[in-house]
Amino acid sequence: MKYVKIMPEEDLPIGKSAIISAGEAEIALFNYKGKYYAIANKCPHRGSPLGEGRIEEGIVICPGHEWRFKLESGVIPTYPVKTKNENIYIGLEGESGNIAYGKIASTLPSSLKFSVPTIQKPRNPEEELD
Ligand code: FES
Repeated sequence: MKYVKIMPEEDLPIGKSAIISAGEAEIALFNYKGKYYAIANKCPHRGSPLGEGRIEEGIVICPGHEWRFKLESGVIPTYPVKTKNENIYIGLEGESGNIAYGKIASTLPSSLKFSVPTIQKPRNPEEELD
């Protein structure tokens, strides 16, 4: 498994999300109540960016038509997340379950280029900060 450094933890406070480009894939990274989750940034309904959605009770709500997906249900492809030295890393290769929309993660280029993460404000910050 190859873990790629994404950003310092301080750049993704509780309740915020970021969208990261990894090769042709986009990943939505959330800090939900202090735990990080990385999922494919594409709703299986019509492809709206899940990273622009909000999370309630561990369920990400698509900004498109409000379909709801449990973060850990496996419905949306997920990526493993680690922290080290106060930085957030996402695992991009090597696990069979780590597939983004038909593209096997191990086929992603080894020198992945990440766009500058977009840090977004949650729609309902009070709810996320409890
Ligand atoms: S695109 Fe996500 S619910 Fe329609």
